[in-house]
Amino acid sequence: ITQPLVLGIESSCDETGVGIVRGTELLTNTVSSSMDEHVRFGGVIPEIASRAHLEAFVPTLQAALDDAGVTLADLDAIAVTAGPGLSGALMVGVSAAKALAVATGTPLYAINHLVAHVGVGILGGTFPDGLPSNLGALLVSGGHTEILRVGDLAHDVELLGSTIDDAAGEAYDKTARILGLGYPGGPAIDRLARDGDPTAIRFPRGLSQPKYMGTAEAPGPHRYDWSFSGLKTAVARSVEQYETAGLELPVADIAASFQEAVVDIITSKAVLACREHGITNLLLGGGVAANRRLRELTAERCAAAGITLTVPAPALCTDNGAMVAALGAQIVMRGAQPSGIAFGTDPSLPV
Ligand code: KG4
Ligand code: ZN
Repeated sequence: ITQPLVLGIESSCDETGVGIVRGTELLTNTVSSSMDEHVRFGGVIPEIASRAHLEAFVPTLQAALDDAGVTLADLDAIAVTAGPGLSGALMVGVSAAKALAVATGTPLYAINHLVAHVGVGILGGTFPDGLPSNLGALLVSGGHTEILRVGDLAHDVELLGSTIDDAAGEAYDKTARILGLGYPGGPAIDRLARDGDPTAIRFPRGLSQPKYMGTAEAPGPHRYDWSFSGLKTAVARSVEQYETAGLELPVADIAASFQEAVVDIITSKAVLACREHGITNLLLGGGVAANRRLRELTAERCAAAGITLTVPAPALCTDNGAMVAALGAQIVMRGAQPSGIAFGTDPSLPV
């Protein structure tokens, strides 16, 4: 099939996403989020997310089919996120996908969520001539932070580095909570930082010491990895010091300095990994890709290193079903066998 009609289902975190593509053409990207229900807890509560997926799935599916003007009988394939993500949340999407596949006799494909963040690049004219070679992906969200080398989406994706503790978005959210900015805190810090001095406080850049970095010839144990938990602690300590001294908290300066530390270490390590692996095209994805300073510094450092940077539209960067459908379509176009219905979910599925 040259232009397969593929339905993609995403339920790994708080977004219930159903996307439909025809080959590289996006027909619908319908998303329902349970974020409002998690706000008062200051983080995504897995049990609440799972129940919300159950309630949202059928209406979201129906809305997607209506929006795309297709029926279940028209589909060539169904693709569903099997991991990584929240266990109970993944099970809702996978169970729904299996039920649809069995009822309609449609081939079903199990999809890796991280690879789908890259596969989305074929949609919306992002890469009009298909995914380029020498491709890398920098994925930065509330649930993950990774740098990937992408030889082929179906069988050659390599994890070069990742966070060893908090995801970058999680660090934003935790820091925002310390600063009393509400949840999710990424957008609030992004906004506030514009009025602050990013050099006011020098916050730590995790895993940047020589013992972790090593050299290009003899890489250390965490050359391309990140750690953000120490940064969050440093912000908390700084806030304490101002309070103990009875000084007014310079919230904008702290936000800007925190953001500079996160963005500096993310971009410097990502570009280093690209240079040392011959990556000349970088795709930036995940919810934190909306961050103004991250986009700015990534663009600046990529340009200096001769790397072409691509950032998909915001609705395709955050978790969604279209990315799952897009990767599914590419796998179908390569003639791969369907996954059957015996596969399970895997909360820590590797790439
Ligand atoms: O990809 P996403 O919608 O969901 C997952 O976590 O998978 O990402 C949400 C995360 C949250 O942690 C949120 O605080 C962060 O992305 N975020 C931002 C910005 N917009 C969203 N972080 C920094 N700056 C932003 N402008
Ligand atoms: Zn994601």
